[in-house]
Amino acid sequence: MPGRQVEIRTFKQSAAGYAKSEIPDLQHDDSDLTGRGEAITARSAAAPSGSIAPTPRDVYEGETLKGPGEFQVMAIERTLSIIKPDITRRNLTGEVNARLEKAGLRVVAQKRLRLSRHQAEMFYAVHKARPFYSDLCTFMSSGPVVVQVLEAEKAVVLNREVMGATDPANAAPGTIRREFAESIEANSVHGSDSEENAAIEIAFFFSEIEIVG
Ligand code: CMP
Repeated sequence: MPGRQVEIRTFKQSAAGYAKSEIPDLQHDDSDLTGRGEAITARSAAAPSGSIAPTPRDVYEGETLKGPGEFQVMAIERTLSIIKPDITRRNLTGEVNARLEKAGLRVVAQKRLRLSRHQAEMFYAVHKARPFYSDLCTFMSSGPVVVQVLEAEKAVVLNREVMGATDPANAAPGTIRREFAESIEANSVHGSDSEENAAIEIAFFFSEIEIVG
């Protein structure tokens, strides 16, 4: 990615604390274990069922091992993105996805659905006390949305840069909200605001088997 520093860390397979025999997906040579996809799958496959998939950082933080059997992996994060009803209504989903992909975000899960009022209230429960909560939930259940898992190095921050400020009037030129948003409520996209919330929000919409990196 131009202008961005790519973090490469060196890991040993044992760093995640799982023996090969515990991970059915990985009954092959270490030489195959060169990609982030395999690394994420390894940890997820061994996680207790129903648990929220950890980020790669959870798995590998602090490992600086060297020697035979090791492999390198980039510190890839995941974030949740929602393409909101103002975008689907105007048939601009592809335009938004093109901007996400151009910025280096990879869509590793995606589905179009219509949130019920109750589902919107559950998703935005953190804003329950805010004056805009009711209208926001009405808007988010007013038409189809596209929910996505995006993957990249520092995906949470990167996605928020690409989205722009919550209020499109304050969003930088070239950002999705500046280009497409209709108002602070109909602001085209949602993106997780932290790695911790990303894990919670991803689990709200997706099971691990639906996420293919
Ligand atoms: P989003 O990133 O989905 O997170 C919460 C949403 O609440 C936000 O985008 C906006 O759409 C909406 N929101 C935040 N502040 C206001 C506001 N002052 N008035 C109306 N809607 C708001």
